[in-house]
Amino acid sequence: MTNGHINPANVPDIPLKDGHSIPQIGLGVLRIDDDGVTPVVESALEAGYRHIDGAAGYNNEAGVGRALAATGYNTGAKRETLWVTTKLRDSQQGYDSALRAFDDSLAKLQLDYVDMYMIHWPTPFDWRSTDTWKAFIKLRTEGRARTLGVCNFMPADLDRLYQETGSWPAVNQIELHPTWQQREVVTYCKEHGIAVEAYSPMARGADLNAGDGTIARIAEAHQVSPAQVILRWHIENGTIIIPKSVHAERQQENLDLFGFALTAEEHEAIDALDGPTRAGHDPATFTYA
Ligand SMILES: NC(=O)c1ccc[n+]([C@@H]2O[C@H](COP(=O)([O-])OP(=O)(O)OC[C@H]3O[C@@H](n4cnc5c(N)ncnc54)[C@H](OP(=O)(O)O)[C@@H]3O)[C@@H](O)[C@H]2O)c1
Repeated sequence: MTNGHINPANVPDIPLKDGHSIPQIGLGVLRIDDDGVTPVVESALEAGYRHIDGAAGYNNEAGVGRALAATGYNTGAKRETLWVTTKLRDSQQGYDSALRAFDDSLAKLQLDYVDMYMIHWPTPFDWRSTDTWKAFIKLRTEGRARTLGVCNFMPADLDRLYQETGSWPAVNQIELHPTWQQREVVTYCKEHGIAVEAYSPMARGADLNAGDGTIARIAEAHQVSPAQVILRWHIENGTIIIPKSVHAERQQENLDLFGFALTAEEHEAIDALDGPTRAGHDPATFTYA
């Protein structure tokens, strides 16, 4: 459901501790192949998205790059209006390997810089994030990666990174949705001024039916879709979101979150959906390689 023309200016910018600001809504591009991702990114830009969340591990950076080049978002004044994130593969962690991997990502994306470069997984059983972070800081000094972030870092990982490098990431991208709210991690990030970015913000679609109709009932009350209810809940919580859709209509719907507001009771009902089951992987043991 959309209520007409979507103005990118409606999407708030979230200020980060490093002085940059990130559009609160971005398009996720996981599980879209390299050929398929080009029209998907083009339709998102057309809909008004000004934030693309990618990764080397999605194997589609070249396809994203083709969309940015075709639309003119890869250079000049237009480039400055767009936020592009990419992430380092776990197998490329380490100082020299991260620098080489970054060059490869930038070439595929056809960009001079990315807005955010992230460590994709902490792999605490094979910790190389300290050396990786030193490479990230070099890239930031060179102006080729403007904001530095991490994904899937638990408080112990964040503590270790800080103890060994003396710096905190500006953003932590974690799995976060109504049935997996990770409140301890969110609280820790807030205490340390680290912005929280929700991946799988709808649990890959599973949370659209959450709570035995709870989400559907709230959607009905506001004449919006279940996706819009969940995404609006994130927005009102101050969380950055990167919903993925390959469909232009859903992309528009997922951006169209500013014509209604949830009540305190509706927030409580969604907060109460928190549960013990993640949709994705456990960062303590998972590697994407
Ligand atoms: N850092 C990490 O480790 C990590 C891990 C996972 C994901 N991510 C990032 O987070 C992004 C989003 O997460 P995700 O893709 O796992 O899950 P998601 O955004 O929660 O859900 C995507 C699923 O919901 C469907 N969908 C999207 N909009 C909809 C709507 N309005 N109504 C009904 N269904 C809708 C999509 O289908 P269609 O595409 O068919 O519309 C897709 O199947 C990823 O693309 C990626 O960029 C990062």
